[in-house]
Amino acid sequence: MNLPRRKFDTLIIGAGGGGLRAALQLSQADARVAVVSKVFPTRSHTVAAQGGVNAALANVLPDNWHWHMFDTVKGSDYLGDQDAIEYMCRAAPQAVYELEHFGVPFSRQQDGRIYQRRFGGQSRDFGGEQAARTCAAADRTGHAILHTLYQQNLRAKTHFFDEFFAIDLVRDREGYILGAFVMEIATGEVMIIEAKTTLIATGGVGQLFRTNTNALINTGDGMAMALRAGIPLQDMEFVQFHPTGIAGKGMLISEGARGEGGFLVNCEGERFMERYAPQAKDLASRDVVSRAIATEIRGGRGCGPGKDHVLLRLDHLDSDMIRKRLPAIRDMVLTFLHLDLCDTPAPVAPTVHYTMGGIPTNRFGQVVVPENQGPEETMPGLYAAGECACVSVHGGNRLGGNSLLDILVFGRAAANHIIGYLAENRYHRPMSDEEAEKSMARLARWDKRGEGESIDGLRTELGNVMEDYCGVFRTEEILKEGISRVEELVRRMDDATLKDHSRIFNTARVEAMELENLMDVALATVISAYSRKESRGAHSRMDYPDRDDLHWLRHSLYFREDRSIDYKPVRTKPLSVDAFPPKARTY
Ligand code: FUM
Repeated sequence: MNLPRRKFDTLIIGAGGGGLRAALQLSQADARVAVVSKVFPTRSHTVAAQGGVNAALANVLPDNWHWHMFDTVKGSDYLGDQDAIEYMCRAAPQAVYELEHFGVPFSRQQDGRIYQRRFGGQSRDFGGEQAARTCAAADRTGHAILHTLYQQNLRAKTHFFDEFFAIDLVRDREGYILGAFVMEIATGEVMIIEAKTTLIATGGVGQLFRTNTNALINTGDGMAMALRAGIPLQDMEFVQFHPTGIAGKGMLISEGARGEGGFLVNCEGERFMERYAPQAKDLASRDVVSRAIATEIRGGRGCGPGKDHVLLRLDHLDSDMIRKRLPAIRDMVLTFLHLDLCDTPAPVAPTVHYTMGGIPTNRFGQVVVPENQGPEETMPGLYAAGECACVSVHGGNRLGGNSLLDILVFGRAAANHIIGYLAENRYHRPMSDEEAEKSMARLARWDKRGEGESIDGLRTELGNVMEDYCGVFRTEEILKEGISRVEELVRRMDDATLKDHSRIFNTARVEAMELENLMDVALATVISAYSRKESRGAHSRMDYPDRDDLHWLRHSLYFREDRSIDYKPVRTKPLSVDAFPPKARTY
């Protein structure tokens, strides 16, 4: 079969902030760039980011990048790679000023400078008083950034393949990635996009869990593609629970709500965070606040008939300030709960929000793989950035506001590296028909119809299993059961078919392939969690309650082929400053 082919310098899979920041940098450098996105680009999940992006601008309170670096290393529970963290924190102010010049409508202070709010885990002077480091566009920061980047890309003539699903990477015998096999969702037409370089920027995998703050599209497609290409996933046991998802529903109430002065109470009306984090209280880092809420609930101090949530109070704050700084959140709570945050508290509970792990990269966005037990090697021409990647700046726990920063800084860094690579590699590597057609089988599998297992049913079960067996608190026994339940679902997936209607919609095929992706990433997550026998960051093992730096200050790597785990060292050496050695982590 002769598949249609298009050729580009760079293929970017995913049109969130990371993909679009990279695309813009490349298009402005006159590279021919294709962005493939399964949704219209401005519907990518970056659009949902609320609270803001961290940069030590010192507009509100004194600040500098080194304090930001300290907070990020501490927030990561010392698992973050300090070279990448230094790079990110130093680059943050420039990343924000660039956005300002691209046209992002940041909120302003009276003096005209960008408004910055307080967020969790931020401090001045290496662990001192609260900092105010998060640059915000009210509570729609991601929306403002994504739309601006999209418009700038249109101006720079980036080529978009909107509503195209990337089915698989195309690889040659030597392991080089030559582009991807994609399908236009509306028509079912398939084609090969050949590229000298490929950047995976497909975001996270929040849809693994029943209750999450993520868009339905966050199914770990890029992570699963990497696994199928023989690339391991790093640190997948670290799944972030945001403290304030709307209880039972999952929609996010930004940490910005606490940054503006909101606080949490239990059923006794007690401001319980004072017990868990005497200094930072409600603005401790997310893992600490989520565990505190879960502990209150387990201790019978939850609110409501089911005692399954706590309350977020903003009713003591000036209602004009709430309308100005948190308008979308107030609207959302009004719409879905019929409550006005200006006078009524909202029910909240820890909710899956972010994937700290992902495709291993260095700080240039190059995908790195272990080479026969030897030192790591980069995969020439293959890059990853944003939530699907693990660079690793978030380690065991990401700080709020560092996610938008990560996508901007490393989207740009990857693009700059690609520009250098393209200058030295001017020609496409040859792609045989055989290589191009290998990924066809993945699609053909979903021509099968009948009365087998339903995709919807399996996806619901997977979300339930992950939530019940890989939650905030974990034990060997629970995780072991989790592994066997996910394995069982993977086996049942073999019998899954699309329903026997007269036609099969391409969206049903996409959902089936998304579920295959979720299954692979679920195994990576639960097996990695089972294997790490300590508590660090968001990974809380009740049977191993302490952090164990002697044995576990290392990154995990999960391999799909034999479902095995290996480990590699943390890069504890920063670029230019002294390392922050592991210390007890208190807030
Ligand atoms: O709470 C929030 O606004 C989320 C921000 C983030 O995840 O960085």
